[in-house]
Amino acid sequence: MKKIQLLGATGSIGKQALEIIEEFREQFSLQAVSARNSVKTVLEILSRHEVEMVSMAKKHEETIKRAYPEVAFYALEEDGLETIANTENDTVLLNALVGSVGLPPTLRAIERGKDVLLANKETLVVGGPLIREALETSNSSLIPIDSEHAALRECLRGSDIDDVERLVITASGGSFRNLAKKDLENVTQEDALKHPNWSMGAKITIDSATMMNKVFEIIEAHYLFDMPYEKIEAVLHKESVLHGLVQFNDGNVLAHLGPSDMRIPILSAMQGSKRMPFPTLFDLATLGTLHFEPIDTERYSLFDLGLAVAKQGGLHVVTLNAANEVAVQLFLEEKISFLEIESLIKKALNHYTNDNHLTLEKILEHDRNVRAYVRNFV
Ligand SMILES: NC(=O)c1ccc[n+]([C@@H]2O[C@H](COP(=O)([O-])OP(=O)(O)OC[C@H]3O[C@@H](n4cnc5c(N)ncnc54)[C@H](OP(=O)(O)O)[C@@H]3O)[C@@H](O)[C@H]2O)c1
Repeated sequence: MKKIQLLGATGSIGKQALEIIEEFREQFSLQAVSARNSVKTVLEILSRHEVEMVSMAKKHEETIKRAYPEVAFYALEEDGLETIANTENDTVLLNALVGSVGLPPTLRAIERGKDVLLANKETLVVGGPLIREALETSNSSLIPIDSEHAALRECLRGSDIDDVERLVITASGGSFRNLAKKDLENVTQEDALKHPNWSMGAKITIDSATMMNKVFEIIEAHYLFDMPYEKIEAVLHKESVLHGLVQFNDGNVLAHLGPSDMRIPILSAMQGSKRMPFPTLFDLATLGTLHFEPIDTERYSLFDLGLAVAKQGGLHVVTLNAANEVAVQLFLEEKISFLEIESLIKKALNHYTNDNHLTLEKILEHDRNVRAYVRNFV
């Protein structure tokens, strides 16, 4: 029985991970959950599972303790996520948080020797070098849940990473892929949240529309597979059927195809080496034609900018991520327009200098400063 600590249990990935846990009750149990404010959903989860630990915003402590006095409550404001990640290592941490808040618990779990199943890509975006360093002295495995990286992991099974010539991931193009850049001026939040292929949380849906999500996924692939940026590519693929592809140096090319269903990569990460039955409908003849094309970097201008920052590394990537998180939130709150997301990110990048010597404290402090700086513009 694998005991799962599910951070971000009330989100899109969190809920689908719960479906998998409930589908395979003999194999998985839920040991801990976290959320920020979705207290009703957390109470529902507690009614279905014998959870030992909960972390949420402090203001929900009384509600949780009144309904479930036997559950240990840890406030987010008092490093609750890290406390969960730091507990005994017969548990596995599934990180489905959104944003850079996911970095400290991931790092703590790896230092504790726990396996981490990672949906929270921002962990690697802001703290990739720290995570790689921690993995070198730990027994833990870091297993991706992001569909493209889960696909690459499947293609790489049994192969030597040194034999890889190129990693390719695909991008759907997001909710505005049929609009020209000039038509993005007045797009609404409601339209932006209508992703053509996937049903996901709000932040990643907006990141898909700006193509920032693909920048983050290239950074994620760089650290997960220890692959230079020059060997990682992204292509537009509007059907989201082919998720990742590996080209080997002997000419062989392996691609991973599958339905747009995040429960598949979630189960793949959770199941270990023995596959668990999870029937899905997948029929090439019904799919018909698949399309691939290069990313138009004038149309998706954040893509080149983001990649250039990624290649510089250091605190500049933290600036990119923090400015993006705040700008996306401001757009969702209808305080800025869609195109202003990019201009706010550029302002932050121009304002701060880079520093390639990273520590967790430095990252967290810089993250806070950039957030305050960007919020100040509105
Ligand atoms: N959704 C997908 O299909 C998908 C696919 C690939 C990768 N990912 C990645 O997976 C991660 C999660 O995405 P998602 O779409 O599931 O996000 P989501 O639906 O927005 O869920 C986020 C979860 O994190 C919690 N949370 C948000 N802000 C927090 C904070 N400051 N402190 C503590 N907890 C916080 C939320 O709690 P509340 O409910 O209380 O706000 C919720 O449980 C992201 O990194 C995303 O890029 C997602």
